Amino acid sequence: MALKIGLVGVGGIGKLHLKCYKEDPLAEVVAVADAVIEKAEEVAKEYGIKAYRSVQEMLDAHPDIDIVDVSTGGHENGSWHYEPVMAALERKKHVIVEKPLSNDLQEAREMVAKADEVGVYFACNLNHYFTPPAEEAKRLIESGELGELRYCLMKMGFSGGEPLYGGPAKDPRFKDYPYFHAKAFLAHPFSVMRYLCGDVMEIQAFFGRPAFRQAAGENLFSQTSIHMRFVNGCTGYLLSHRGDTPSGLGGWWSVEVGGTKGTLCIENCIEKLTVWTPERVGLGEEPPKRVVDTGVKDFNQTFPRRLHAFLEDVTNQVPLEKLRGSARDALATLEYTFAAIESHEQGGALVRPAPLPLPRGSIA
Ligand SMILES: NC(=O)c1ccc[n+]([C@@H]2O[C@H](COP(=O)([O-])OP(=O)(O)OC[C@H]3O[C@@H](n4cnc5c(N)ncnc54)[C@H](O)[C@@H]3O)[C@@H](O)[C@H]2O)c1
Repeated sequence: MALKIGLVGVGGIGKLHLKCYKEDPLAEVVAVADAVIEKAEEVAKEYGIKAYRSVQEMLDAHPDIDIVDVSTGGHENGSWHYEPVMAALERKKHVIVEKPLSNDLQEAREMVAKADEVGVYFACNLNHYFTPPAEEAKRLIESGELGELRYCLMKMGFSGGEPLYGGPAKDPRFKDYPYFHAKAFLAHPFSVMRYLCGDVMEIQAFFGRPAFRQAAGENLFSQTSIHMRFVNGCTGYLLSHRGDTPSGLGGWWSVEVGGTKGTLCIENCIEKLTVWTPERVGLGEEPPKRVVDTGVKDFNQTFPRRLHAFLEDVTNQVPLEKLRGSARDALATLEYTFAAIESHEQGGALVRPAPLPLPRGSIA
């Protein structure tokens, strides 16, 4: 039977989620809520469902809702998550929230603790690794085919460059927030790296911005350069930027993982996976490789795949700790983000991200 969904926040991303649910047999959206009621009403009319101003009003009218989808945004794209998430968790609803969990680390920790206390599924839209290339990469790593993991290199950025620069953000949600890029964006690459290589133990970071942003008086740190050590001994490097240069090799993001028995590279998020196996070759020659090309270049294809995985996990009542793309996984990315910010503020000092809470509890 389809799960009943109430969605909060009908901006661009909320609307995209609604489209995905419409195509998914495991979902039935029954209501939407938006603080700007006219926006909720417009969408509700299109889908033939009810509109409300808040998650509380929505849940009062539809106590049988199974899942609350929180697609609000806010300052640094995360400050409007806490209130609707906590209201839904208070009522013991399963929740999926957009990334980042919050722009405030304490709020993020509280949300994860609350879900743990009430024993519901609490997931985050870490959609970037719900793709065929990432799933195959994970299988290769878990089966041991890559051997001992030695390095993980990730590069991620919106394609841009100086001629395309439109000046500092004017929107009050982003204007004058130096860490907007880090807080709103790093959940994605950190989540991919952690999915493939596990927990991160130490972080060292340098943030910056190009001269064209400085000349425009922009205080955003649009570039983050992060060096890290994983618990398994693998080392990692993450370069992210917000349209400071055109994309290079690998499209809008690529990740390469090198192991003692093989190396793999995912290009353009959902598009392509290449796996190289060891063989003696001359300098400049390439060892044998296997390429999985999905032919998919549309990043938005990650959304229905990720949302469907959540619906599957809830339908199948998987153990809480087995939930894919959990809020705890998203909290890890936020702990790394705040560790990177701390390192940057200390001139590149080595910082240990705070440990994650142990998962506990089970579905009643
Ligand atoms: N996963 C991804 O790939 C991806 C990509 C882009 C954006 N995002 C995330 O999606 C989220 C939404 O982004 P957006 O651009 O659609 O945001 P937006 O600001 O355009 O829309 C958010 C909507 O939520 C409403 N809202 C805010 N607080 C509310 C509350 N407490 N109750 C009810 N309604 C409320 C606002 O009125 C607005 O209509 C952000 O967190 C962003 O980081 C994710």
